[in-house]
Amino acid sequence: MISLPRRHVLTRLGAGAAGLLLPAPGLLAQNIATAPTLDVPFVPTPQEVVERMLQMAKVGKNDVLYDLGCGDGRIVVTAAKAHGARGTGIDIDPERIGEARKNAEQAGVAGQVSFKVADLFETDVSPASVVTLYLLPNINTRLRPRLWKQLKVGSRVVSHAFDMGPEWPPDNTDSVDGRSIYYWTIKPAHKRAVKS
Ligand SMILES: C[S@@+](CC[C@H](N)C(=O)[O-])C[C@H]1O[C@@H](n2cnc3c(N)ncnc32)[C@H](O)[C@@H]1O
Repeated sequence: MISLPRRHVLTRLGAGAAGLLLPAPGLLAQNIATAPTLDVPFVPTPQEVVERMLQMAKVGKNDVLYDLGCGDGRIVVTAAKAHGARGTGIDIDPERIGEARKNAEQAGVAGQVSFKVADLFETDVSPASVVTLYLLPNINTRLRPRLWKQLKVGSRVVSHAFDMGPEWPPDNTDSVDGRSIYYWTIKPAHKRAVKS
């Protein structure tokens, strides 16, 4: 964004508004136009749940983990730091990606992970051996055919809080502090189902 001196950026309301400063109307419109449209708001997964999700998927040093809607990157960073995995976090909000990169630096795993501003529905997840999700039921359901199509047989999917609907019952479930975790693996039947 073009950087203007503060006096140009702000307009002062009339005397009645007691000196309250507001952005100039043109700049307000520009900010609204560039704000990302979120399919899901940012709500971080508690760390104990992150750890259980990674245990359920048996994440290890040979894994490539993708977190779709990665927020501040905590799942990817924990997978790298505690389990030696490589990882990629995808989030549509550049602010979240900035936080995730900073968190990876602070944890000393920046060389093992990458974070990208992108729409999860336009992301190729075929390099992943593990996909983690904390989205919403309708978003999981929309994602399901992409996961079946792009992931290799044997890849694992773990979701905090929401399942994948009746078409894809989980292989395993658990709960931590009343929070549900769902676990699936990709099977040959899923690949056949998306081909037909
Ligand atoms: C509930 S938060 C989960 C954050 C993180 N995965 C965790 O478990 O701590 C959902 C995230 O999805 C992101 N998001 C929403 N819509 C998206 C989209 N279409 N593509 C990519 N990310 C999206 C939001 O910005 C938010 O950070």
